[in-house]
Amino acid sequence: MKQIEMSATKLDDSEIEAALRVLRSGAFRQGKECEAFEIEFAEKVGAKYAVASSNGSAALHLAYMAFLKPGDEVLVPSFAFIASAAMISMTQAKPVLCDIDPKTFLIDLNDAEQRITHRTRAIAPVHLFGNACNTEDVSNFADKHHLKIVWDAAQAHGTMHKAQDIGGFPDFVCYSFYPSKNTFVGEGGMTCTPHAELHEKMKYLRSHGETRKDYHTMLGMDYRMTDIEAAIGREQLRHLDRMLEIRRKNAHHLEIGIAAIPGIRSQHVTPNSLHAWRQYCVYVDADKFGCDRDTLAEHLKERGIASSIHYPRGIHSQPVFEQLYGRTSLPNTEQISRGILALPVHHELHEDDVYRIIEAVEECYDHSPYFSSARMSRLELMPQPEFSQGIQRSV
Ligand SMILES: Cc1ncc(COP(=O)(O)O)c(C=O)c1O
Repeated sequence: MKQIEMSATKLDDSEIEAALRVLRSGAFRQGKECEAFEIEFAEKVGAKYAVASSNGSAALHLAYMAFLKPGDEVLVPSFAFIASAAMISMTQAKPVLCDIDPKTFLIDLNDAEQRITHRTRAIAPVHLFGNACNTEDVSNFADKHHLKIVWDAAQAHGTMHKAQDIGGFPDFVCYSFYPSKNTFVGEGGMTCTPHAELHEKMKYLRSHGETRKDYHTMLGMDYRMTDIEAAIGREQLRHLDRMLEIRRKNAHHLEIGIAAIPGIRSQHVTPNSLHAWRQYCVYVDADKFGCDRDTLAEHLKERGIASSIHYPRGIHSQPVFEQLYGRTSLPNTEQISRGILALPVHHELHEDDVYRIIEAVEECYDHSPYFSSARMSRLELMPQPEFSQGIQRSV
């Protein structure tokens, strides 16, 4: 039986050739490839400027170092990867962890508003799993409370809201190129911004605050990307739309198959948006589904299907955050953490793999252990999502 993995991270020949070109040149530190990758990435996501860095956490840290002061507070969802909040703490500011909407799994602005103080300087929404935050609502919220916005787009390469790529929004949009992401180079990050001054500052912060040779005017880090990664990234950009299209098709089929099963539901897609499906996550309501999330994961494993849990606990319940900021309760984050499960959706899955996943989930459901060919052909007849309506594509 073929094993169905959670992600597909094999580079193709053109990507390997690009890396070899740099290796053969003998010049692989940050250089011309990085510069070109920054320009091409910014163009692709509709941003004015982009700063490449060593990973997605560095991309966030550069944004925070560029404007936060010790003691500032930043509103950030607790249901996210640890880096989303930890990079705020690393600047001596305080992440104020907010609850999420239980349907979209995205930051709940009503909850965030309750947590505003005179020290609040920014909001850091996470386009979680590739689902767009409502850019209009967040921008209005930030305007109303005079906040900067740091969008965590680590999982949102290709996410659109209202026919606009989420990469072009102020003030900072931060990406990761870790292997499981929609664009992957090994390790890498990118911070996009429309602000010329902040762009320049982040470039210095990336290299120990060196504003000219051997002259350092601010404290920074060594967060440079190598030209090897940048060369792979440039090739990957050419494949992003194709990979997204396959992910969207797979998600569409999973959606139809899973919607019919009681007690299990997928992430509610933000209206007027295009999800990038970095992860296809379902929430398992154990009472209605007949068994819990962990039992479903075990059942899938027995059938050769990988799954993973993102995230088993909110950031507010991580020991380090409890030690730093005390214990708190965020009910929606806690509920979703207990029932969340990510299923494979990546670009190397075939239709048969997708049907195998649906079949395995159905099998696990107490009362409907069937998967008929009639149902399969019904799936095939379902209309496909409209991928390109109203969307500007640069490659
Ligand atoms: C939401 C989110 N933010 C930030 C990061 C950090 O990116 P990296 O692992 O490249 O440092 C990740 C990585 O998984 C992420 O998922």
